[in-house]
Amino acid sequence: MLIPPGPRGREVRGFFGGGSFAGTLDFLDKTARRFGPISSFRLLHKRIYLVDDADLIKEILVTQQHNFERDSGAKLLRELVGDALITREEPDHRERRRVLQPAFHREQIASYAQIMSTESGRFAREWRPGEIVDVRKEMRRLTLAIVGSSLFGADFRESADGVADVLQRVTKRSRWLAPSFALIEPAVNFYRRVFPRGPSLFFQAERKELEAIIMPIVERRRGAGTKDILSLLLNEHDETDKPLNQQEVQNEIVTFVLAGHETTASALTWTWLLLANHPQAAARLHAEVDSVLGDREPTLEDVSALAYTSLVFQEAMRLYPPALAFARRPKVPLQLAGYTIPRQASVFLSPYITQRNPKYFQQPDEFRPERWETDPAPPKFAYFPFGGGAKMCIGEPFAKLEGVLVLATLARQWELERVEDDPVHPGPGWLLNPNRPICMRLKQRVAPSHKRINHLANLP
Ligand code: HEM
Repeated sequence: MLIPPGPRGREVRGFFGGGSFAGTLDFLDKTARRFGPISSFRLLHKRIYLVDDADLIKEILVTQQHNFERDSGAKLLRELVGDALITREEPDHRERRRVLQPAFHREQIASYAQIMSTESGRFAREWRPGEIVDVRKEMRRLTLAIVGSSLFGADFRESADGVADVLQRVTKRSRWLAPSFALIEPAVNFYRRVFPRGPSLFFQAERKELEAIIMPIVERRRGAGTKDILSLLLNEHDETDKPLNQQEVQNEIVTFVLAGHETTASALTWTWLLLANHPQAAARLHAEVDSVLGDREPTLEDVSALAYTSLVFQEAMRLYPPALAFARRPKVPLQLAGYTIPRQASVFLSPYITQRNPKYFQQPDEFRPERWETDPAPPKFAYFPFGGGAKMCIGEPFAKLEGVLVLATLARQWELERVEDDPVHPGPGWLLNPNRPICMRLKQRVAPSHKRINHLANLP
């Protein structure tokens, strides 16, 4: 059987990055650049296939998606969130997606814009000039408030630290569980077959803590009757669907609270860091926000005019995609780029690696939002921070809208300056986050009001 080329023998140790996560990313990047569209290496007893080619990524996520399932990461995640949309396989996945999709239809997303703007505005008013903030913490607080309010009509503002603390412990345990998970997976699968609703094998305490934080807040809101995700889960609108049981509802709530805030918080944190390191881009963003908004907060109607702000968010997610990699495994042996990929092999797809491929992006490591205006458009799956196919991120339109509205609302009033120059690298975790707190000083801006600009423009 022909095996894709890749590092062999001692070279594979590079995967462990000398103990640093940035080292692991560097190893994957070098492997992809050296060996091309598909490479492979053996890790413990498992062969990893790394795919770094837009056409092949499309093949896996879309064209041949029925031949693939989620890899072991989803099994580990299942021990935290349980049987939910994000961990399900077909046909159960499709059925659940159909129930939840209406919460992300165009009209529904539009109704969240007001909440995104209001929450960001409230946040901007709480900041104080000269204050030094930990940007990641702040973005988590804000995105949790937004997701809580828009998807559940619930107020999570005071819960961010509690949720972050639990997630930190989950991440820590996953760090040693993930590499060896393949070895224990058969036992985990057996346990789940026998006890599909049994307690979590690895995160029982953390799961209980999350429920204790989240559920009372959501309970308080029950019965409000808006068409948000909670009402879909509780089947308040469509009596034809089979109602979800209490456990299933809780699993989805935990899923959406976690997936809906940690991801956008990561993207926004990197965006502020990039803006602080690229004053020209920050100046252009501020100029756009001033001219479109003047002295008011953004609405849905402003989003199309905030074109550069959107590109800044898009470019930040090119360099630092929150879901830096995800994996699939073939359900049957199949052909990919002339190689036979065995059943159950781990096929790695990494937005972080492919979105920095010089084949698709000029000066790939540079932050240049204007590349999206000037350079030839890359092929579809050269940029895929939200994945693709049937299991693509259901929250994509929500996250894109949120990114623009949060950036515009905060940048209208504030400039964020770094207070230290230490280099920042990606740190370990399920999502791509900086390896250190990003401390920034808040500098208040004086946005020119529209009226004043118009008035001055009319002067003879
Ligand atoms: C910048 C923000 C976000 C990024 C980069 C992101 C990325 C992703 C990716 C790559 C996947 C697919 C993983 C795979 O194929 O294995 C995914 C799935 C998912 N995301 Fe997001 N996401 C973001 C925001 C959100 C938001 C705001 C929500 C909810 C409001 C959300 C909820 C979900 C759910 C429920 C799934 C599972 C979908 C399914 O399997 O059908 N995400 N996300």
